[in-house]
Amino acid sequence: MEANAPIRIGVAGLGTVGTSLVRMVARHGNDLAVRSGRPIVISGVCARDRGKDRDIDVSGMEWFDDPVALARDPGNDIFVELIGGSEGPARASVEAALSTGKHVVTANKALLAEHGNELARLAEGADASLNFEAAAAGGIPIIKTLREALAGNTVSRIYGILNGTSNYILSRMEQDHIGFEECLAEAQRLGYAEADPSFDIGGQDAAHKLALLTSIAFGTEVDGEAIYVEGISSITSADIEAADELGYRIKLLGVACRTDSGIEQRVHPTMVPRSSAIARIDGVTNAVAIEADFVGQLVLSGPGAGGDATASSVMSDIADIARGDRVGTFGRPASDLEPYRRAGMRTH
Ligand code: NAP
Ligand code: HSE
Repeated sequence: MEANAPIRIGVAGLGTVGTSLVRMVARHGNDLAVRSGRPIVISGVCARDRGKDRDIDVSGMEWFDDPVALARDPGNDIFVELIGGSEGPARASVEAALSTGKHVVTANKALLAEHGNELARLAEGADASLNFEAAAAGGIPIIKTLREALAGNTVSRIYGILNGTSNYILSRMEQDHIGFEECLAEAQRLGYAEADPSFDIGGQDAAHKLALLTSIAFGTEVDGEAIYVEGISSITSADIEAADELGYRIKLLGVACRTDSGIEQRVHPTMVPRSSAIARIDGVTNAVAIEADFVGQLVLSGPGAGGDATASSVMSDIADIARGDRVGTFGRPASDLEPYRRAGMRTH
């Protein structure tokens, strides 16, 4: 990419997140050019239904019906995948972009939890970036915090509320005495839920995010299959009231920690004391607590879902690539994993 030339991005997926990204570039184009060191231009877009009213201006952007064609198009420097799903058009288009050496930004945790290691190898082989700040905890800059701000630390535990939809449902059930199904329908209407909401309430979405955070925090490859997963589908108002009487709130937590036998990863509803910081996190907000040797404990909280908050994280990745900041993706070459193996930690 030529210095100071515009960075051209192709955006595949114009739903909740994709439309927010298009609005952000329209609204903050000048500031983005200053912060990224070069103008950011959306040169191509793609969605299923060209005729849908999306309340965004896509004039001047080339329309593609096929995300793979957009991924391969030489008219863009960065391919932004905002379609979703671990297979089909999302996987095919990300593979196509990386195979041609194009940088990829994605918010797709399902894709990365299932195929992240192969995609990372594809990116490294093609000397391309694969960035995914938006894939874990929406608007919270948790990937950058772990990679950059905590670079000098050894992390011993990371845990938190990683699914906004579940936390929204539990909060509304407790505070407004609304039924589970009604709360879920509201979360869907607000654009928080996955296309298949069983991923939210079944705990899989939180598990996908935990798999990514574990990889970055502990320097291992992504291992989503090793996670114990239990969602909130069976939580009733009576459970919430019983927890309350005992001084607890029920939260869906993702937890990863070092143990003597390796890195333990789990997602399940948990009773947390009312006095704890995590208990006070309501609605779509996520919170991630990190325990590390030099910094001690820190807790980051913020919007875990929603188009604008997620687009904020997508843009931070685009700006990094525009500035030429390169990061590793997941895990490490096998030889680098030896110290972990010697320490008895499962590395993959
Ligand atoms: P969404 O609202 O369902 O939008 C998906 C978009 O993909 C739609 O524009 C759809 O086109 C398009 N699409 C689907 N299949 C396609 C195909 N075969 N070819 C071309 N386009 C296709 O999803 P979203 O909520 O924006 O989420 C996008 C990604 O971000 C997902 O990976 C999700 O997990 C992740 N994410 C979402 C949030 C959030 O709060 N929503 C937060 C963090 C991460 P049509 O509009 O024409 O149907
Ligand atoms: N469905 C997800 C959630 C979107 O509710 O947290 C953000 O990843």
